[in-house]
Amino acid sequence: MGGQRYAVRSKSTSIAVSGRWVRGGQGRPTAPPHAPSSVTQLRMGPRTVLVTGGAGYVGSHTVVELLEAGHRVVVVDNCCNATPPPTTTTTTTDSHKGDDKDSYTDDKDKNGSSLTPTTATANHNNATTTEEGDKDGNKEDERRSALPLALQRVENITGKTLTAFYLVSLNDVDALTKIFAKHKIEAVIHFAALKAVGESVTIPLEYYANNVSGTLTLLQVMRSAGVKRLVYSSSATVYGVPQYLPTDENHPTGQGITNPYGRTKYFCEQVMMDLAASDQDWGVLLLRYFNPVGAHASGLIGEDPRDIPNNLMPYIAQVAVGRLKALQVFGQDYDTPDGTGVRDYVHVVDLATGHVAALEHVWRPDFNGCESYNLGRGEGVSVLEMVNAFSRASGRAIPYVVKERRAGDVAKMVASCTRAQTHLGWKATRTLEQMCEDTWRWQSQNPRGYV
Ligand SMILES: NC(=O)c1ccc[n+]([C@@H]2O[C@H](COP(=O)([O-])OP(=O)(O)OC[C@H]3O[C@@H](n4cnc5c(N)ncnc54)[C@H](O)[C@@H]3O)[C@@H](O)[C@H]2O)c1
Repeated sequence: MGGQRYAVRSKSTSIAVSGRWVRGGQGRPTAPPHAPSSVTQLRMGPRTVLVTGGAGYVGSHTVVELLEAGHRVVVVDNCCNATPPPTTTTTTTDSHKGDDKDSYTDDKDKNGSSLTPTTATANHNNATTTEEGDKDGNKEDERRSALPLALQRVENITGKTLTAFYLVSLNDVDALTKIFAKHKIEAVIHFAALKAVGESVTIPLEYYANNVSGTLTLLQVMRSAGVKRLVYSSSATVYGVPQYLPTDENHPTGQGITNPYGRTKYFCEQVMMDLAASDQDWGVLLLRYFNPVGAHASGLIGEDPRDIPNNLMPYIAQVAVGRLKALQVFGQDYDTPDGTGVRDYVHVVDLATGHVAALEHVWRPDFNGCESYNLGRGEGVSVLEMVNAFSRASGRAIPYVVKERRAGDVAKMVASCTRAQTHLGWKATRTLEQMCEDTWRWQSQNPRGYV
C-alpha cells in the first residue's frame, strides 16, 4: 500500500520523518492534502489546553485535532511509554519571540520507562542578531529535537507548532505548578497513565502511584491554579462484566473489574465525581473509551507498543509486518456468531475529535459537574472479523492459533454512544476498513515504530 505524499515547506533537515516526504520551498511543513480531519468547528475560539500524556497514542492524535481546530497546546509527558526526545540534556529553545512558545526538557530518564518524576527547568533566550536567520533556524532545529518523535510528526502533519512541551511527570508538583503559572491554561485533557493490564497485576503499587497519585497531584495543582475544566481518559473497563448490551453510561461501574489498571480508572472517576460535587466551579467529562485502534491517515503517527502488544489490533499489525509469527485467539467457544470475542472498536482519529467536542462542552458557561460519555461506535466486531478485515487491507495472510479463553474476558462488549451524539454532537464515522487501512499504513511505513 502506498504512503501519502505530503508537500513540505520546511528547510529543516533534522526532522525525523518518513522517506516519503517531499521537501522543497520555504517555511513550515504544510498540512497534508487530506487534512484537517477535525470534524468540530470551534464555536468559542482558540484556547490554551494542557494535554497530559500528549506524546502517547491517543494523546498525539488528539493534539493533531486540537492544533487543527486552532487551539494552543501545552504537552506534559515523562515519556515513560513514549519514544523520548532525541535531545537528552537540559535544553531550552525559544525561537518564537513574544508568542510564549518554549520547550523544556530535563535530564532524560535513561531507559525511557522509569516512573521517577522528572523536573521542568526554565531558561529563556530571545536573542536576535544580524545572523538572526541562521540562529533562528538552529534554534528551531533545537526546539524540534527536544520534542518526542511523535510530537515532531504531529507538527509535520498539522504545519503548526506546539506552544510548549515539558518532559515531566505528573507526580512532580513543583514542575506542574510552574507550568500552570507560566501558561494561561483554560482546560486540561488528562491522558497520562500506565495502561498495560497484565503489568498492572504484577506491579500494582506502581500503577496506583502513577495513575491515581499522579491524578491527585494534577487535580490539586489545577485547583490551586484555578483551572477547573477537565476532560479525563477513562475506559469501558470501569463497567466490569457488562450486565446488558449495548452498555450505556447508566450501567453500574466498579463491580467485577478484574485488574488494578481498571481500578485506577474507576478510582480516578470517583475522585473527580467527588471533587465536582464539592465545588460547582468544576466541570469534568469522563470519556470512557471502547478499544481505540487505527492511526492518522498520514501513516506518520500510530500506536507503538513497547513490548508484545496487549491489544488485538497492534498484535495483528505486527503479525502482518512480520514482527510476530501468529496471532493467539483466546477462545473460539463464546456465544457469538463465530465463537470469538466481540468488541466495539473506534478509530483513534474519531476518538481525538471526540476530545475536541468534549472541550467545547466543558467550556460552556452553563456547564458544571461531572458527566460520563461512552466513546465507541456502537458496533461489535469479532476477533476473526478483525483478522479478515486486516488481511484484506494489508494484502497479507494473518496466521492465528486458537487458545483457551483468558480469565476475565467477556464474550461481548459494545457501547451505547447515544449520549455523546446528543450532548457532544459527536459520532464516530470511520469504518472498520479505515481502521485497518490506516493501521497498516502506519505499521508498514514504521515497521519498528518510532525508531
Ligand atoms: N489505548 C487504549 O486501548 C485505551 C483504552 C481505554 C482508555 N485508555 C486511556 O487513555 C489514555 C491514553 O492511552 P494511550 O493508549 O494513548 O496510552 P499511551 O501509553 O500511549 O499514552 C500515555 C502517555 O502518558 C505518559 N505518561 C504516563 N504516566 C505519566 C506520568 N506520570 N507523567 C507524565 N506522563 C505520563 C506516557 O509516557 C505516554 O506517552 C490512558 O489514560 C489510558 O488509560 C486507553
